[in-house]
Amino acid sequence: MRRANPASSPCRSSERAQASIEHVSVEAVSKSEPDRPAPIKAAQVVKAGPELIASAAHILRTGGLVAFPTETVYGLGADATSDEAVAGIYAAKGRPSFNPLIAHVTDLQSAQAHGVFNADARALALAFWPGPLTLVVPVQRDCKVSLLARAGLDTLALRAPDHPVAQALLRAAGVPVAAPSANRSGRVSPTQAAHVAIDLADRIDIIVDGGACAVGVESTIVACLDDQVRLLRPGGVSREAIEVVLGRVLGRPLSVGDASSAPIAPGMLASHYAPRALVRLNATHIEPGEAALDFGGRFPDHPGLRLDLSPAADMHEAAAHLFAYLRRLDAPGVSSIAVAPVPMTGLGEAVNDRLDRAAAPR
Ligand code: TXA
Ligand code: MG
Repeated sequence: MRRANPASSPCRSSERAQASIEHVSVEAVSKSEPDRPAPIKAAQVVKAGPELIASAAHILRTGGLVAFPTETVYGLGADATSDEAVAGIYAAKGRPSFNPLIAHVTDLQSAQAHGVFNADARALALAFWPGPLTLVVPVQRDCKVSLLARAGLDTLALRAPDHPVAQALLRAAGVPVAAPSANRSGRVSPTQAAHVAIDLADRIDIIVDGGACAVGVESTIVACLDDQVRLLRPGGVSREAIEVVLGRVLGRPLSVGDASSAPIAPGMLASHYAPRALVRLNATHIEPGEAALDFGGRFPDHPGLRLDLSPAADMHEAAAHLFAYLRRLDAPGVSSIAVAPVPMTGLGEAVNDRLDRAAAPR
């Protein structure tokens, strides 16, 4: 495979699109899908290193789209202060534009330039940042994050990711980076650079490869907008760990109609994270022809395709494997994936949430 040096020629968006056509795309992009538009870009997967970080940061500052690793999943990043750059994210993902994005920052101090942190929000940031927790807070009056990234809301989701490549990229870019998971809307989230390439290489500028994501499910999202802290999405920090820091239980999101409500994370669409194959939950047996997503070694004798999220029933291991295994089981000829029951303890809440959405009617 031929690779041009991405650090050699930082350039403007249109030039970049032109230049990237000359790049040879990665092998992983070979999967053809009838519903895709003709390729216009061919983003390379490039191993993270100092030169690449500088180049990727330049692409961000000049309005381009950069896929990069975080400890949860790969993000599709753009300059959060630029409506135009953020529009590129929505277009590349095919994402409904009412769905707001998380602004990624290096730390609490930079987060406070954009959002208002009450005592709960500060306590949670101090306990879990950098890490897989997103805080939804009221926007600062002079917040520079674009209205499009916020989907017009007067609240803002902020996260400081705990991945050396993400941190280096954010420092080098010097702007908050809006980044949803780097998959096409509704599809399984990417935990490896090759997953991003399959979904998006023809639509973005570069894919920074930082290896497999250690956590494997997206960040936990909590809203700190009033005297309650509300869980909007279970994720990489368990409910129990958050409640220990708060010293009280997490509240539920209020309904959307309530004027004083924290908006339910609009990304919590019923059908999400969907492989092509159907997903059958809480399986007690495997039907002939089904692939098995096992947990704790329940179906060792299944003669077909079988992957065990965690033979030792470890929740962190299960979360880390979830999306990669769903992708691998979603193989040609597999019409259904049977999933063993996964307990709700710790990260099991996030794993079950993603499985429910993968199994939801489409
Ligand atoms: O781990 C993660 O959170 C990954 C990595 C890349 O950081 N990102 C991620 O982003 O999962 P995304 O766009 O797939 O999910 C963001 C969620 C959506 O459900 C969105 O509705 C919600 O955050 N969200 C963003 N801003 C919000 C706000 N102001 N109020 C309520 N929910 C918000
Ligand atoms: Mg997502």
